[in-house]
Amino acid sequence: MVTRVPELDSGLVGQWQAGGGELIDLFAQAHQQLGPVAAFRLGPRPTVLVTGPEAVQHVLALHPDRYVKRSHRARLLIGDGVLAATGEAWQRQRRLLQSQFTGPGMRRYEQRITEAARTAAARWAAYARGRAVLDVGDEMRRFALDTIWRSLTGHPLDPGTERELASVPAVVAALPSLPADGAAAQGAVAAELARIDAVAARAIAAARDGEAGPDGPGLLHVLLEAAGTRPEYTDRLIRDELVTLLVAGHETTATTLTWLHLLLDRNPQAREQALAAGAEGSPERRQAVQALVHETLRFYPSAWILPRCAAQDDVLTGYEVEAGTDVLVCPYLTHRDPGLWEEPERFDPERFTTPGRRPKHPGSYLPFGIGPRACLGLQFALRESTVLLEHLLPAHTPRFRSTPAKTAYGLTVRPDGPTPATLVA
Ligand code: HEM
Repeated sequence: MVTRVPELDSGLVGQWQAGGGELIDLFAQAHQQLGPVAAFRLGPRPTVLVTGPEAVQHVLALHPDRYVKRSHRARLLIGDGVLAATGEAWQRQRRLLQSQFTGPGMRRYEQRITEAARTAAARWAAYARGRAVLDVGDEMRRFALDTIWRSLTGHPLDPGTERELASVPAVVAALPSLPADGAAAQGAVAAELARIDAVAARAIAAARDGEAGPDGPGLLHVLLEAAGTRPEYTDRLIRDELVTLLVAGHETTATTLTWLHLLLDRNPQAREQALAAGAEGSPERRQAVQALVHETLRFYPSAWILPRCAAQDDVLTGYEVEAGTDVLVCPYLTHRDPGLWEEPERFDPERFTTPGRRPKHPGSYLPFGIGPRACLGLQFALRESTVLLEHLLPAHTPRFRSTPAKTAYGLTVRPDGPTPATLVA
């Protein structure tokens, strides 16, 4: 039987609007009251919220042709890069990059990831010696940016470029509140975009000059090589791919690692257990450290909503969805559903190392998305996070001077405020 998607009472939506609540509160209410596929109305048309594993799999993995990405605001920053591209252009771009982020392609980054982790660990050792206060979030961002920059260009991130690239998170943070009109939005962040374009142009020119960098050629060289035989790889598209990988490849990892330190602060035994799982460099320790990352991503999947638009009428696990409907897949709520996860509010990394402790359905755990548009950098992100933690965890523990009281649910879900700490050996 096919029925209409159950819709949240308009009075409740009105109350939520009047209370100035966070979007997540509205979503949680719809999910709790109405189940795995629920609708609410903020304008004339209903928006459909998808949280149940079967429905998640239907939208993202089984029928990606029926639920498509709509051109989003981030295009202002990432242009036609692979994250925003659609159709055949996306397929071509994805195919080129995919080989760089799997199997043998990934091996090229091992050394760069290790170097970036060593650099971060040396910085932490210096902070500890000087009893200095550091900001854990800023440190994680520095590491993630250095790692992706090395992988793109073959060079470690220099302080000048790092300063200029502060414009990237500035634009990302501004995106949700920019004017709807494209030109006005562009104008509002014109100075930041110009700075980012200048960094990209310099990196592209250096790679084109054949300057490979101490770590050998980077991803940028692969893109330039493609341009030799494929006219669609114009300088503009190469810039867009470069900025896409910078944006997609550092903010998400940085927030995840920041959450991880905050969660370990509240759950110190989890850190001890991970270190006790095996000796330094052993597969057992690596697996336990990776489980810390997975459990953090269950709690705080940085991409907490994955927006799609129904390209045609469809029946979604028994519910009618009309063409043109906005559909929001919400990993954040799926990951905290007590019907799927035992004691979801408990930080318990062992659910990722003990067989049978986590739900089996592919739609029940999706911090990297699922289906053809799933994260290209999944292996990269897990590798860089694990390697960094293998360097930091045995040496220092951050003692936070204060922690953010609020969570910001913007483009990513992140701690809303500074994270100052000193380090204890
Ligand atoms: C913990 C870190 C990360 C998380 C949680 C994450 C999450 C995601 C998610 C959920 C998507 C799918 C979005 C959707 O379906 O709408 C995605 C796409 C993507 N991610 Fe990641 N990501 C991470 C790190 C990275 C890294 C390190 C890179 C690059 C080195 C990267 C590159 C990309 C790209 C290029 C896409 C677009 C793929 C496409 O549309 O074909 N991500 N990511």
